[in-house]
Amino acid sequence: MKKYLIALLMVCLPGLASAAASNYPMESFKADLRDQESLQRGMALFVNRCMGCHSMEYQRFARTAEDLGIPEDLMEEYLILGDHAINDLMTISMDKGDAAGWFGAPPPDLTLETRLRGSAWVYNYMRTFYRDDSARFGVNNGVFADVGMPNVLEDLQGIVINHCSREELEARGGFTGTLDPLTGNRSGQCLQVQPGTGSMTPAEFDQAIYDLTNFMTYVGEPSRLQAERIGTYVLIFLAIFTFFAYLLKREYWRDIH
Ligand code: HEC
Repeated sequence: MKKYLIALLMVCLPGLASAAASNYPMESFKADLRDQESLQRGMALFVNRCMGCHSMEYQRFARTAEDLGIPEDLMEEYLILGDHAINDLMTISMDKGDAAGWFGAPPPDLTLETRLRGSAWVYNYMRTFYRDDSARFGVNNGVFADVGMPNVLEDLQGIVINHCSREELEARGGFTGTLDPLTGNRSGQCLQVQPGTGSMTPAEFDQAIYDLTNFMTYVGEPSRLQAERIGTYVLIFLAIFTFFAYLLKREYWRDIH
């Protein structure tokens, strides 16, 4: 019994550790791995906007194409940039040493990022970049203070200004108050998008980040997609089996009565 308790604790600990890393009140995130269109859009965004700096070096293009229902020729034409072949791992050529010099910290491999930090963390992280003149690169982040990553999606989201102190931002988060349907901002909210500075509406941007995080969640555990699919078949099988078992039982009992 004790052994099981310890094992259970080991499973829960990483979750606790990442939760403790920031006090920022995060919005929840629920992945939908059956939504192939969302996963495909997420991959497109990742390949175009993230793979300049981040690899997914434990994931193959071919496996991703198969799991997400992307025909291999389309994958090769639009989603495999540079001189990769379809069977390659999703690596990049940027030198980690150089990158550490440029950004202060090298951009980490993101294959297991959602397992390490949790999907909700990534979802909130990608939406809470804001301009901060006092920070080293002029950019800061709600869940990752003094971040070394530039705000690479600012052209989509728009310029975000933090109207609170850092402490207040971490205590209140960015998601309270009533929503202004025109700007997508909430009254009294710390992080406000300057209207008209991004090419997406706040709802579109949230959806794009949802897709991106959904894709990263899939990559963190590709077999979950299969497990969910097999799980459905198992349930259908069990239902049919139960029905026949019931008929059999009735047959037996008829003789006994
Ligand atoms: C110009 C290079 C660059 C691009 C492009 C870029 N990043 Fe980053 N990213 C970084 C750097 C540098 C860090 C390390 C920041 C630090 O540790 O302070 C980082 C850190 C991260 C982290 C946090 C890792 C951790 O757990 O500490 C995540 C998540 C992340 N990036 C996601 C993304 C996503 C998603 C995209 C595409 C939308 C992206 N990045 C595009 C440079 C980049």
